[in-house]
Amino acid sequence: MTNQQPPSDAETAEQHKRSIRSFVLRQGHMTAAQQRAIDTLWPQFGLDYRAEPADLNAAFGRTNPKVLEIGFGMGTATVEIAKRLPQADFLAIDVHGPGVGNILKLIEEENVGNIRVMRHDAVEVVENMLADGSLDGIHIFFPDPWHKKRHNKRRLIQTPFVAKLLPKLKSGGYIHLATDWEEYAVQMLEVLNGFESLQNTAADYAPTPDYRPETKFEARGKRLGHGVWDLVFVRKD
Ligand SMILES: C[S@@+](CC[C@H](N)C(=O)[O-])C[C@H]1O[C@@H](n2cnc3c(N)ncnc32)[C@H](O)[C@@H]1O
Repeated sequence: MTNQQPPSDAETAEQHKRSIRSFVLRQGHMTAAQQRAIDTLWPQFGLDYRAEPADLNAAFGRTNPKVLEIGFGMGTATVEIAKRLPQADFLAIDVHGPGVGNILKLIEEENVGNIRVMRHDAVEVVENMLADGSLDGIHIFFPDPWHKKRHNKRRLIQTPFVAKLLPKLKSGGYIHLATDWEEYAVQMLEVLNGFESLQNTAADYAPTPDYRPETKFEARGKRLGHGVWDLVFVRKD
């Protein structure tokens, strides 16, 4: 059962007062079409946060492989990947209201059935709502780089968070990260290499897998002359 609406900006802000966050809630502009998509599609494709393990098979109505995506942005790449991998189910999480409206709108336009959307801090979802061994894959594409030294502590990919994330993966499941910020790529590699339970699928950075299209944030990075680094590691045990 879902509510009729995802949480509002005010509710989300209230939930997210706690400690250091990997995001800042911006009051982005919601278009009429995005709002309409939320009003009409949230009951079908939205999943409300609860501080208890969710039954993902029930949420998708089937037992196919489950992939978590943290930070889908406007959702364009997520919807494309869901079309390319129709046998997988995607739990797509972000905190940004217009992005939630946009991905729901794309889900309807593209007639995609294998995405469920959450609007909540993914750190809390991982901590409280995902059962151990429930995921076949994890996608985190172009997480906010927080490039100023004093903001580095807000970065998502740090050892304590990855330590919480990895038990959610099945043995043989994968984690796929990408960034356009070289120094963050180095940090990502160091963090993932620090886990004995993970095996790198490449010597260091991986070729971009076929299923991943260019994302919106990646395109912006390329316009600014940035490089792109993908990392794909598999859980061994
Ligand atoms: C730089 S954008 C990249 C978006 C998209 N993946 C792309 O490549 O275009 C990072 C996104 O992660 C989201 N985000 C950051 N921390 C998050 C968290 N703890 N939980 C959910 N979403 C988060 C932000 O709201 C933002 O939309």
